[in-house]
Order: sequence, then C-alpha cells, then structure tokens
Amino acid sequence: METVVEMKGITKRFPGVVANDHVDFDLKPGEIHALLGENGAGKTTLMNILYGLYRPDEGKIFVRGEEVKIRSPKDAMELGIARVPQFPETVDNLSVAENLALLLPGKILRKNKIQSMIKELAERYGLELDVDAMVYELSMGEKQRLELIKALCRGAEILILDEPTTVLTPSEVESLFQVLRRMKEEGKSIVFVSHKLEEVFAIADRITVLRRGKKIATVPAKEITKLELAKLMVGRPVTFELKKEPVVFGEEVLKVNNLRVLDDRGLLAVKGVSFSIRAGEIFGIAGVAGNGQRELVEAITGLRRVEDGEVVILGKDVTNKSSADIIKLGVAHIPDDRRVGAVLTLSVMDNLMLKNYTNFSKNGILDLRKARELAEKLIEKYKIVTPNVNVPVQQLSGGNIARLILARETSGECKLLIAFHPTFGLDVAATEEIRKLLLELRRKGVAILLVSEDLEEIMQLSDRIAVMYRGTFMGIVDSEKAKVEEIGLMMGGVKPET
Ligand SMILES: Nc1ncnc2c1ncn2[C@@H]1O[C@H](COP(=O)(O)OP(=O)(O)O)[C@@H](O)[C@H]1O
Ligand SMILES: [Mg+2]
Repeated sequence: METVVEMKGITKRFPGVVANDHVDFDLKPGEIHALLGENGAGKTTLMNILYGLYRPDEGKIFVRGEEVKIRSPKDAMELGIARVPQFPETVDNLSVAENLALLLPGKILRKNKIQSMIKELAERYGLELDVDAMVYELSMGEKQRLELIKALCRGAEILILDEPTTVLTPSEVESLFQVLRRMKEEGKSIVFVSHKLEEVFAIADRITVLRRGKKIATVPAKEITKLELAKLMVGRPVTFELKKEPVVFGEEVLKVNNLRVLDDRGLLAVKGVSFSIRAGEIFGIAGVAGNGQRELVEAITGLRRVEDGEVVILGKDVTNKSSADIIKLGVAHIPDDRRVGAVLTLSVMDNLMLKNYTNFSKNGILDLRKARELAEKLIEKYKIVTPNVNVPVQQLSGGNIARLILARETSGECKLLIAFHPTFGLDVAATEEIRKLLLELRRKGVAILLVSEDLEEIMQLSDRIAVMYRGTFMGIVDSEKAKVEEIGLMMGGVKPET
C-alpha cells in the first residue's frame, strides 16, 4: 500500500478567505508527516476536513486507496482516523479509568479490563498513566496522554495532532515525541500539525508547507535545512541571526534584593531572589512556568505585595509602591497574556493612548486629533497592520497585538522594560520582529528583564541568564559562556558545578 490517506485538490472557502486552495496531501503507513505553516495558513481547516468536521468545496479524499466521503467524526473514526485535540477534552471530575469507560458505551465499567488495557498501551507506547487518578489532578501533558490513549482504544490507525505542544513544558514535549516515535514503529500514521520549525525537524519524516491556503512544498525532512524551510513557510528569507551588538552598560536601573513574594494561595513563591540590571543590559530569566516567575514580575511591577526584601528602580525604593508610581519612573511592562496587555474591545487608537491619556486631554476633553496623529505614527513605526485606527484590537492578529503593546509601552520615555513571554504563540515572522525590537531598545540603553520559557529566545537575547526553579535562582550565568545543557539541567533543579 502506497498511502493510507490521499487528499487531492482540496479547496475550502470561508466568507472572504480561501482557507485551502487546491491542496494535495498524502500520508504513508508508519510515517510522521508534519503539516507546517504560520497562523492562518489553513492547517486546521485541512485536518478538520479529514476528521469530518468540515466538508470540502472541491477535492477528493482516498483512504487506503478507496475514495471516501467523511461527513462526521464518526465516519472518520470508522476509517481509523482520530484527532488529538489541541486542548484536552477530558472529563475532569472523573478518574482516568472512568474517562476511558465513557468510550465503551453500553458496557459496565470493568476496572480490571481497563487496567489491563492501559497497562498494555503503557508498555507498547510508553504511555504511563495512573488509572485511579482524578483527571483534574493531571498535568496538561498527562491529559494529552489520556487523549492519545482514548484514540488508541478506539482503534485509531491514523492520528492527527493539531499543535499538540502548545500546552506542554519542554520535558513533556520530549516524552510526547518518544510516544509518537513508538507509535510510528508500530505502524501508525501520524499528521503532526505545527508552526514551530524546531519541533517539525525533531519529529517529522516528511514536511508539507502551507502558506495562505496553498500547498507550497512537500519535502523529506532530511533533505532541507531550517533556513530553507523557514523561507518556504514565511515567503521571504528569515535570518534567525539577530545582530546583538556589544554595548557598554550604563547605570544600575533595577535592583532586587532578597525578594520574598507569596502566590495566590499564600505560599512562598519567590524565596529570596537578588539581582540587578544595568542600562543596555538584557537579563534573562529561564525556567519552566510556575516556578515563581509570575509572582516575581508582578512584585516588581507593583501588581503584587512584597513580603520581604526590596525593589529599587533608578535608586528609588519602590517596594510595595503602586503600579502608577512605578510607571512614572519609566517602567514598561509586557504581560504574558496579550488579552491583559491590551483592551480587546477598545480601538487601536484608544489602546495606544491608554498609558498616558492625560497627555491628550485639555480641560478634561480628549484631543482626538492629537491622539490620532500619535496612533498613526506608531502604526507606521512599529509596522502594526490594521485597516485603520478605529477598529477594535480583537480584529488584529496576535503578532500585531504584540507590536501594539510594545509600541504603547516603549514609545514614551522608557528606562526599564519587563517583558514576560513577549513572543508566546507568535509565528516565526512576528517573533523575529519582536526580538529585533527588543534588541533595538537594548541599543538605546533600556534595561530589560526578559522572562521566557523559550530557551532559544533567552540564549539569543540575554546578556546574563538566571534560571529560576521553585522560587530561587539556581544560578546566574554569562550568556556568552552559557551552555544549553547546563541551563536545561538547572531548569530541572540541578545546581551547576562551580
Ligand atoms: N470556521 C471558520 N469560519 C471562517 N473562517 C475560518 C474558519 N476556520 C478558519 N477560517 C479562516 O481560514 C483561514 C485558515 O485558518 P486555519 O485553518 O485555522 O489556519 P491554521 O490552522 O493554519 O492557523 C484563516 O484565515 C481563518 O481565519
Ligand atoms: Mg490551527
């Protein structure tokens, strides 16, 4: 058998957009085929068609050589096609065993049977899971494992994983990849949907690139470089090599001394952290999410109470001062959630003047002409793509919202920038632009605290790197001398040898 799935000339139109434009895609037995493309390229649409959620306007689908009409997920499942959803669709207030029992309608839950089924899957694919655990206790990685087990229990031969790593930590990604490799060895065929080049290279046998609804190429992973692939995906050359010029650091801008901060549950989340950042320096904090980074950032920006220790900005003690006071010192903040960083229902212009709207008011009346002028200037300078200044921000793409927040936060007087996951969820092109803007600010002498889970980003941008683990720094290293392996170990709680 040549192919298990063949999609030919698939076209799907939505009002105003051709999501898939005569796309060909095929899947071989025992292969991992990556479907790569930027946000909006049409990946999910194509897979929804294969899974029976959408009907194509044109095109044909063949499964194991026979033409099929897939009208629903039920049809898909009968053909052995299963989809692992991006966000787990498990029943959280039931146990793992009970979740699996739901798949066997009409049968009484026989725990022994389910237990032996899971044991077999665990051994065959390396999918360990405690059947008695309540699902709400599971991590995202474990919930996803449950979704994989569900698919296998239903007899899936063809698995669709749509951006499966979005919810995972780096080590969970590695164990997912191990499971996928085992599945492949057992003869399963896997479509791995992603917009991340590294992931695709790590796991795929073949790669199909989609751009704006069109298939650009299908290539064996071994026959293409990362740069070539990025160019196919983005449609223009991408360098990946950011120019980080040497700069002479200036005065000390931020000093954090033995800081202790509680989390929402009242437990100590930051346990005595000290560091300082000078003008023109990027200080990176690496670590898996949930190790105190959020509490640290919120304490520095005046959003969370400091229990003990001090925060000093430009020589002023700002410990437990209000955010408004801290902003006045020239502190900009990019929060990790763009829905917090911008008011989605307000217009582009309103969002751009949120931080200093008093500058635009005369006797309590807003000077709209002045506001519009500023907005238009910033849109041009920061390359924000928007139909006009009056559309609500929710209509912009993620990359453009990110640029808008950066524009608002740093276009005025900015001495210190706190950037929390500034490129999270952005595509390659938008990520590159945001990183360039950060280096531009560094060149201008802004001190930057960069908190990111993306190790590559931290290594690329930082001058010094701290690794945060369970509320403390495992170490602070010079980025020129830092080794990825060493930082990876510290992220897992291993202290470096010195
Ligand atoms: N249900 C839908 N209704 C209208 N437009 C849609 C729908 N689903 C996707 N689109 C549009 O189709 C295009 C491709 O989207 P999608 O397949 O989700 O891309 P990807 O998964 O590659 O990010 C986008 O422009 C998106 O806005
Ligand atoms: Mg998608």
